[in-house]
Amino acid sequence: MYAEFYGLQELPFALTPDPRFIYFTPSHTEVMANLHYGIESGKGLIVVTGEVGTGKTTILRWMMQRLDRTVLVAYIFNPRLSVTEFYQHVATLLDVQQWQTKSELLLELGRALESRHSRGLRTVLIIDEAQGLSSQVLEEIRLLSNFESDTAKQLQIVLTGQPELRDVLNRTDLRQLKQRIALRCVIKPMPNVEETDRYITSRLLVAGARRTDLFSPGAIDYIFRCSEGIPRNINNLCDNALLTSYAAGETTVSRSTIEEIAETFDMLPSVDRGLQPGEEHAGVARIFSAAGRAELWAAGTGAAEAEADTVPQLETF
Ligand SMILES: Nc1ncnc2c1ncn2[C@@H]1O[C@H](COP(=O)(O)OP(=O)(O)OP(=O)(O)O)[C@@H](O)[C@H]1O
Ligand SMILES: [Mg+2]
Repeated sequence: MYAEFYGLQELPFALTPDPRFIYFTPSHTEVMANLHYGIESGKGLIVVTGEVGTGKTTILRWMMQRLDRTVLVAYIFNPRLSVTEFYQHVATLLDVQQWQTKSELLLELGRALESRHSRGLRTVLIIDEAQGLSSQVLEEIRLLSNFESDTAKQLQIVLTGQPELRDVLNRTDLRQLKQRIALRCVIKPMPNVEETDRYITSRLLVAGARRTDLFSPGAIDYIFRCSEGIPRNINNLCDNALLTSYAAGETTVSRSTIEEIAETFDMLPSVDRGLQPGEEHAGVARIFSAAGRAELWAAGTGAAEAEADTVPQLETF
């Protein structure tokens, strides 16, 4: 594969949430600090949201690896659980034995949490992909958030999920749960080209790169635009671009290679497709310069439609 060709010890842009590769953008740093503070100070319920592929699972894994032995963590990442399955998971992960019914489990769990809390030990329940949890399970989570001493929550609960999680938590039937959220934070995509550049460089270095200029400045600029700063998209573009460039014997990835990959993966920047970020394909009004309009007019309506997608720069006026 291309790793050897580029002097890398491993593939730098895998799609797995490997915490060894973590790069702290200001947003990732802020979320990490919030998680740390919330868990340390017994805040109770913490909610972290972020677009698909922004690094939620990566951050959780990074944090879990660094919690010391005084913290017991139960990590659940399959949100499609029934209430019974949910409790089975919680009991197993928090090492609660000797229970048959839900009330027995809650009693035992209460004792275990109380005992840990009194010895200065912390207990954390983390649920990833929480946007997929059913109302029933979320109601049980509310019950679990009631374990508390006079001064602190005995069970710290972290819910992470895609932005839809906010809609879920805004549902009227879940308003009691919403009121218990002590901390909320949002993971944001890379905000600009510079941060995207640093992200790419950081991953290359972790993969053992001796050269960090494997991507030309033009390539990085276009990666930022196509990926909208989302790490998983950046990884996809970079991995495929390195493979393509390697096949062509090129030692540096050029902007045109990124353009080619973006086209193949249907990841062209929305502005190049005549869209604003977040807008749908159909029915979008496009704005052309006077010269562009004249050209399209001359080409006729059918051709104009076809042409419109390929007009390289749509200028506003
Ligand atoms: N801060 C970061 N530093 C390094 N790599 C990152 C970072 N954030 C995300 N990634 C990389 O981006 C990819 C997607 O990350 P991850 O799976 O954590 O996203 P997610 O927000 O959990 O996505 P989903 O919403 O689909 O669950 C992974 O390959 C991960 O390594
Ligand atoms: Mg995830």
